[in-house]
Amino acid sequence: MPGNATLSVDGQTYELPTLVGSEGEKAIDISKLRDRSGYITYDPGLGNTGMCKSSITYIDGDKGILRYRGIPIEQFANHPNFIEVAWLLINGRLPQPEELAGFSAKLTANAPLHEAMRHHFEGFPVNAPPMAVVSAMISTLACFHHQFLTIEDDAHFEELAARLISKVRTIAAYAYKRSQGRPFIYPDPRLRYCANFLHMMFSMPYDQYLVDPDIEDALNLIFILHADHEQNCSTTTVRVVGSSKANLFASCAAGVSALWGPLHGGANVEVMEMLDKIHKGGVTPEAYLAQAKDKSNPARLMGFGHRVYKNYDPRAKLLQQACERVFAKLKRKDPLLDIARKLEELALKDPYFVDRKLYPNVDFYSGLIFRAIGIPTEMFTVMFVIGRLPGWIAQWKEQHDMESGKIVRPRQVYTGKTINDFVPMEQRIKA
Ligand code: ACO
Repeated sequence: MPGNATLSVDGQTYELPTLVGSEGEKAIDISKLRDRSGYITYDPGLGNTGMCKSSITYIDGDKGILRYRGIPIEQFANHPNFIEVAWLLINGRLPQPEELAGFSAKLTANAPLHEAMRHHFEGFPVNAPPMAVVSAMISTLACFHHQFLTIEDDAHFEELAARLISKVRTIAAYAYKRSQGRPFIYPDPRLRYCANFLHMMFSMPYDQYLVDPDIEDALNLIFILHADHEQNCSTTTVRVVGSSKANLFASCAAGVSALWGPLHGGANVEVMEMLDKIHKGGVTPEAYLAQAKDKSNPARLMGFGHRVYKNYDPRAKLLQQACERVFAKLKRKDPLLDIARKLEELALKDPYFVDRKLYPNVDFYSGLIFRAIGIPTEMFTVMFVIGRLPGWIAQWKEQHDMESGKIVRPRQVYTGKTINDFVPMEQRIKA
């Protein structure tokens, strides 16, 4: 039962209310602390700060648990349907058949971009980083869909969510086509979400890409496993921007920027670079592991370890199985997969990794699947954007609907100069 916490400072005692979440997460409510005591809390990186109550995603990092709206992610693996999971995240429950059909129809109707937006892509240099293009084009959607800059009701919001989820897929495929100097391919209304994405990525006007259902399933699963991860850096960014009542397009464009960083969405690229380096450099997995353990060496075992999971990342387990299925289906051999398998086998019995609870994370196998499908490394973080978008949308809406509706505005402990007079330029010139 929630009680009070007692804080003693400067000879004064303050009673602070506590709260407990539905899975037992305990928090001290310090929202009135400054008013009452003159103190703020100091928590760089916000690792001990709950900025919201949320009912979307639950993680228990010690036990390796991840649930969307209470449903363990393993339960999505047998019939992976990213769109159903997107609807679940946004609406809080699984859809009825007619609700899912209605949402899918909206996605299909909204897949094409405004023709003028298509021409925007030609303004970017061919070697533009795809994440910059995706962020810019999500912002650009606000220019073409004015009617969604404010939300009227839930039906209006669902229409907006469908537009954004659908158009991001087209934007991502066009960003890739532009980078290759290849013609844009219009979405095909007969195809489902992931199949349509693969079609826009890989078809040519004279050569239709045939979508393998097992590859479509693998892509659905990858997107599902990236769909939300509670208050991570990009999601927090989306909520912070949304707290100023900025529209969903602007908020999600900011989320893309946050995800772009190598400490967040860029890690799967680094896994591939590590595997490639081991392969090309002729380093054995055993020798690389020794480097990763050596504190004087900057090498780390990329795709291992996680700030929250101190157990096997449940997403990594599912991706490892998906990876084996995809390679078997494509009858493909990849020396990088052999290296990954060996690294994992060695690390999981090495006391250095066991003692520090370092297990494979979501990035360890996702890049290998992308590579097998034909998605180049530069597009990996864009794939993460497509997957994470439903989570951003759900979290933005939760923030939007919060009763307090407060703008997020933290404080600071100022450590700069105290009052310091302005000196006119002529007096500043050194003698
Ligand atoms: N390889 C070698 N040693 C490692 C690794 C690794 N991948 N990860 C952590 N360690 C070691 C640290 O050196 C430290 O050792 P010490 O106690 O002897 O000093 C100990 O394990 C604890 O590590 P921290 O850095 O404190 O762990 P933290 O939770 O802060 O970091 C992180 C987590 C950043 C993910 C880290 O494990 C890492 O760098 N991993 C590799 C990069 C990676 O895969 N990132 C993707 C994360 S998933 C995602 O963002 C979607």
